Amino acid sequence: MLPTIAEQTLADQQATEHLAASLARIARRGDIFALEGDLGSGKTVFARAFIRARGCVDEDVPSPTFTLLQVYEPSLPDACPIYHFDLYRLDAPDDAWELDIEDAFASAICLIEWPDRLGPLLPAHALSVRLRPGTAAEQRRIQLAGTTAWRQRLQETGLA
Ligand SMILES: Nc1ncnc2c1ncn2[C@@H]1O[C@H](COP(=O)(O)OP(=O)(O)OP(=O)(O)O)[C@@H](O)[C@H]1O
Ligand SMILES: [Mg+2]
Repeated sequence: MLPTIAEQTLADQQATEHLAASLARIARRGDIFALEGDLGSGKTVFARAFIRARGCVDEDVPSPTFTLLQVYEPSLPDACPIYHFDLYRLDAPDDAWELDIEDAFASAICLIEWPDRLGPLLPAHALSVRLRPGTAAEQRRIQLAGTTAWRQRLQETGLA
């Protein structure tokens, strides 16, 4: 398991959306956000706020529960695509090749729900975003874990 970089309590959904938007602002091509947590923990809420913060404000951001993948092409200058995966229904890691993961990892920003389904295909430089229940219904605990490069970036941008 990668070392924890930052951990905090999110009081409500708005707090989750705020943190997702902050990460969206520092994200760049090639970044992978591995969204971990049980059913209903807030992975799609996080992804939706992230995608909107990257400029996809007019679009619906449906959960890719059945499609496994939704691709967004933000209209901002220099913007790169966002690949939003929900791999809950992926039967085997190798099936992910059909979802264009090679291309996505190289030239997009990836948000991946249920990243454990990728097994060894999940790149080691992914930032792990772990959502857990808090002590109240609306509360979540969030943990960011990853490489030294991620630690540096998050510290430089005040997110750790
Ligand atoms: N602090 C919070 N952060 C995120 N979601 C919250 C929070 N408090 C309550 N919620 C609610 O929890 C639910 C999270 O649902 P969401 O679809 O994002 O879960 P998920 O992790 O994507 O689940 P799944 O594994 O089924 O895809 C939403 O109904 C949301 O309104
Ligand atoms: Mg979801």
